[in-house]
Amino acid sequence: MWGWRPRTARPSARCPAGRCGVAEPYYADEHVTLYHGDCRDILAEVGSVDIVVTDPPYSTGRSESEFAATGNIAVALHMASELAPVMAVFGTSSGRGIEFVRSSVRKLPHNRTLAWHRAYVNSPAAGPWRWDLVLIHVFGRGSFGRPESSSLIQTDGTKSLALETGHRSPVPVRVMGWIYEPFAPGVLLDPFAGSGSALIAARNAGARAIGIEIEERYCEIIARRLSQGTLDFDPIGDEAA
Ligand SMILES: C[S@@+](CC[C@H](N)C(=O)[O-])C[C@H]1O[C@@H](n2cnc3c(N)ncnc32)[C@H](O)[C@@H]1O
Repeated sequence: MWGWRPRTARPSARCPAGRCGVAEPYYADEHVTLYHGDCRDILAEVGSVDIVVTDPPYSTGRSESEFAATGNIAVALHMASELAPVMAVFGTSSGRGIEFVRSSVRKLPHNRTLAWHRAYVNSPAAGPWRWDLVLIHVFGRGSFGRPESSSLIQTDGTKSLALETGHRSPVPVRVMGWIYEPFAPGVLLDPFAGSGSALIAARNAGARAIGIEIEERYCEIIARRLSQGTLDFDPIGDEAA
């Protein structure tokens, strides 16, 4: 069962009412524990995990407040990097996006960059190339074992997945599984859980996962997907993301 239950009082500047669910999970089953709140508050209470897989909510950086928000993401990425030996962070393919992720995760060495090609993505941004390539920067030391998969994955757009889940920027579970499965059954952490696709990928591999999501409506989506035993909503024939 899930549902909002007020956390034990611990108000903070980001959570003045002390209702951000640190002490008490929003949802828990034998595989997944989900917290509702700001990951910068909750990460301090999460112990060590085996891998962080996360897709932060990047802004365009066009205004001061958006830069401030991006600074908050950097803080969260740094905190998460202290909890795991391996971290996979989604980012844009812009030079600034690449620099941002690399400078936020300073504790772990940059090991590999993987690429997710989302076909048919339309982008209003200027430039001759579409924003249809998502880079996933993998941090951590040493070899990650025998190479079994390509470092490139391709899917259709994510518009139908967004309609299915109710989240505006979901990642297909198949993409999360491609990143996570070499590390199964390690415990996965996603501090920007969104619609919960990384958590579902770990659950599908029989592993445990911890998620954090600041928007309660997205926590509901995650809880619903997990309760339904949904394996994936991979879109077919999508036209735009
Ligand atoms: C790009 S989405 C993640 C999508 C996810 N990978 C999926 O497959 O659905 C980023 C998520 O981070 C959440 N978020 C933003 N700031 C947060 C914070 N400080 N703590 C926790 N979650 C946050 C947003 O509400 C959003 O759902």
